[in-house]
Amino acid sequence: MAKKITTIIPKEEIEKQYHFMQSVQSENERIAASKGKRNAKAFVRTFGCQMNEHDSEKISGMLTSMGYEITDCQEDCDIIVFNTCCVRENAEEKVFGHLGALKGLKRANPDLIIVVCGCMTEQPHIVDEIRKKYKNVDLVFGTHNLHRFPELIYNVMTSRVRTYETSRTDSEVAEGMPVKRDSNIKAWVTIMYGCDNYCSYCIVPYVRGHERSRRPEDILKEIKELQSQGIKEVTLLGQNVNSYGKDLEPAATFAGLLDLICKETDIPRIRFMTSHPKDISPELIDTMAKHPAICDQLHLPVQSGSTRLLEKMNRRYTKERYLDIINNVKKKIPGISLTTDIIVGFPGETEEDFAETLDLVEKVGYDNAFTFIYSKRTGTPAASYPDQVPDDVVKERFDRLLALQNGISRRINDTYEGKIVEVLTEGLSKNNTDRYTGRTGGGKIVNFTAPYDVTGKIVNVKITHIQTWSLEGELIEDEK
Ligand code: 5AD
Ligand code: SF4
Repeated sequence: MAKKITTIIPKEEIEKQYHFMQSVQSENERIAASKGKRNAKAFVRTFGCQMNEHDSEKISGMLTSMGYEITDCQEDCDIIVFNTCCVRENAEEKVFGHLGALKGLKRANPDLIIVVCGCMTEQPHIVDEIRKKYKNVDLVFGTHNLHRFPELIYNVMTSRVRTYETSRTDSEVAEGMPVKRDSNIKAWVTIMYGCDNYCSYCIVPYVRGHERSRRPEDILKEIKELQSQGIKEVTLLGQNVNSYGKDLEPAATFAGLLDLICKETDIPRIRFMTSHPKDISPELIDTMAKHPAICDQLHLPVQSGSTRLLEKMNRRYTKERYLDIINNVKKKIPGISLTTDIIVGFPGETEEDFAETLDLVEKVGYDNAFTFIYSKRTGTPAASYPDQVPDDVVKERFDRLLALQNGISRRINDTYEGKIVEVLTEGLSKNNTDRYTGRTGGGKIVNFTAPYDVTGKIVNVKITHIQTWSLEGELIEDEK
């Protein structure tokens, strides 16, 4: 099969969208002046993963450029955007619940524009349901159409026709669109979109499309800008960052990209997610070990400890291969913090399969595990697999896994008592306002006391007290 090369959306198309941003802004100013009203306000609600959180920052960037003030209160808004997730059924149910609750707001303010975008809208049966049951929704657009948001909004504003636009091209990436970031200390940077892995339970490849990488020079330019704005930590995002660059001409690798970022920028902390065990290369581990700026943390979803189930999941590695990778990582990067994703109750999961998962969790000793109950996703191969596991069995296994992991997390945290760790301070802790909060390079949450404001600084903290999910301590040294 010929290699599919990713291209950049033509500059003219992006300029056209900037033009629409201006037109929407003028339209908003005109409405405000004619009605003697305040500036237009927008509310963005995000469901799901970091990828979606970052897409919402792009949506907020476009909304800001269209003259909207972003608020966190959906009453009294002119536009409400739901950026949705469909990875599990409960995420979809939440969205429908919130959409239903908007009916009253729309009745009170018929000019309100309601937008639904993100992963859910790339599924035809969901768009049908919105069309039929949620007549208050004005605009639906998919993950491939994000950059066209300004044009779509302009059309809805001026024509007032319900608009649906999903799944356009799948081999292009947009550059140069605005972003309104939630933090001025840490930032997400997308390095690739989509996924080509087709794990048998997962809806993502169907809704996010093929893997498309951004060019190294565009990524580098963005990170240099972030550095000049004082950003201290960058997380590189992609559904499967280890296959970065295969679709570029010339081809690139993820290890090569990390190396380039470390050489060309001075960002103190670099993280990345998500990795796929089948694609993790020895060069990547060596690159992580070589550069102090790359955090000693690896999120490596295992999904199951049973080789039999891993094959049914189409994961393309065995339990032994996974443990080999982990051993190599631990050898090269001592003290690395490891996290994972695990699915409980995949069709056909037996007690023996589950025992393999518990055994793997024990052997690896994860700092933290994100555990999920299997959710049947329409259109995925596993949805039609026989022998779905009964709910009560799944729940009981889930609780056992959680108890095991909680014990391991606590055990690992206990080893931090009395140690000095480096923390990037994110600000005052929300529930304890005389303490600062931040994370270690390994990603552990640390709440600590400091005699002066250390927000945005990387500081040394002595750990004095341990919790299962966080560490507590006191500042011992000023910024380095
Ligand atoms: N059911 C439950 N969990 C799922 N995930 C993906 N698809 C499903 C599903 N159908 C989990 C995987 C993945 C994480 C982001 O979500 O563990 O790594
Ligand atoms: Fe889904 Fe597998 Fe792709 Fe992750 S790697 S997004 S689990 S298909």
